[in-house]
Amino acid sequence: MSTPAAPSSGAYFTTVLDEAKQRLTERGQEVFDFGVGDPIEPTPEFIRQALIQALDPVSRYPTVVGQPLLREAVAGWAKRRLGVSLDPATEVIPANGSKEAIFHLPLALLRPTDARRMVVYPTPSYPVYDSGTRYAQGVEYPVALREANGYRLDLGSLPDEVLAQARIVWLNYPHNPTGASVDKTYLREQIEIARTHDILVCADECYLDLYFDESSPPPSVLQVARQGVLAFGSLSKRSGMTGYRSGYIAGDPTAIAALKRTRPNMGVGSPNFVQAAAAAAWRDDAHVAERRALFRAKRDRMAQFLRSKGYEMSGSEGAIYLWVRVPSRDPQSFFRRLLEHGIVVSPGESFGPGGEGYFRVALVPTMTSIDRALSVWDAIEFSF
Ligand SMILES: Cc1ncc(COP(=O)(O)O)c(C=O)c1O
Repeated sequence: MSTPAAPSSGAYFTTVLDEAKQRLTERGQEVFDFGVGDPIEPTPEFIRQALIQALDPVSRYPTVVGQPLLREAVAGWAKRRLGVSLDPATEVIPANGSKEAIFHLPLALLRPTDARRMVVYPTPSYPVYDSGTRYAQGVEYPVALREANGYRLDLGSLPDEVLAQARIVWLNYPHNPTGASVDKTYLREQIEIARTHDILVCADECYLDLYFDESSPPPSVLQVARQGVLAFGSLSKRSGMTGYRSGYIAGDPTAIAALKRTRPNMGVGSPNFVQAAAAAAWRDDAHVAERRALFRAKRDRMAQFLRSKGYEMSGSEGAIYLWVRVPSRDPQSFFRRLLEHGIVVSPGESFGPGGEGYFRVALVPTMTSIDRALSVWDAIEFSF
């Protein structure tokens, strides 16, 4: 058997960044960490209280299908946010964060002996579409996204042989790392092509509630179809709950039924107290609007600085990221120079081929820290 377990570029890169940050901290230098997308704003008090209230004296194994209260809360959110009626019994299951759900999906649905086991996914991207495919012995088919077409993965541009072999396509909008968003027409086109070729559309929508233009919330695949479609949602960034590990998988009842059969093998039942906190979070929209406003303010501050210095941005419509062109033919020395001053950003290539020549800014530091970082950045002399 081949070994699919080599670390992905993304996982490797996180380690490199951690080491660089550690060295800076040891030198007593302030670190401005725009690298890792793990926000530092507190989890709202009512969510923490919901978890505490749900701590039963007796601890039993949670189930993979989860508690009705959580599935109903997700369905309630989908109704309010998307105008979509999900059946909480057959069309929604909880996940321990969207990462495990994404990683396990090919393992749950593909067999190494299947003739058709290709997985199509974007690059640059979140690295887990790739690693999940490899661990499941699927066949990887990364599709390079381009600034010129708005970082859209277009199934219509793929050769017929690829569409004939593909079982799963991953879409991710708002997109990590570019922050690009799409409209419903695009999603409809992709879902129609996928349906023609019997490809399951898996939409990683973990940033769906985080967008910078309040007048145009990004669409979900669930607003276009239910059959042949799975949406993956997350509370991590939406509700400041990265440490809780909570998300959902929603959509095609046949695929959900298959996941209910396979996921119990994977030990991914979400603890009941986390489910209670998650239900409280999905029931509330006010805290999400507050977080959006906060990220928007950080985006405005960063974008204003970058533009004033002549940096070019693209995508950058949602999630918690800005995607910026490296203003130099020597990206490594550019990143090194920033790092010497304690400023950590993510080189585009760490998200896979196609990311070269760009860097990602995660809007993670506080506004005060951003202001300090920008005055440091402003004073750096680059030799280009
Ligand atoms: C595109 C994308 N998908 C999924 C995840 C996983 O998020 P979580 O497992 O916290 O829900 C992340 C995390 O950064 C991400 O950027």
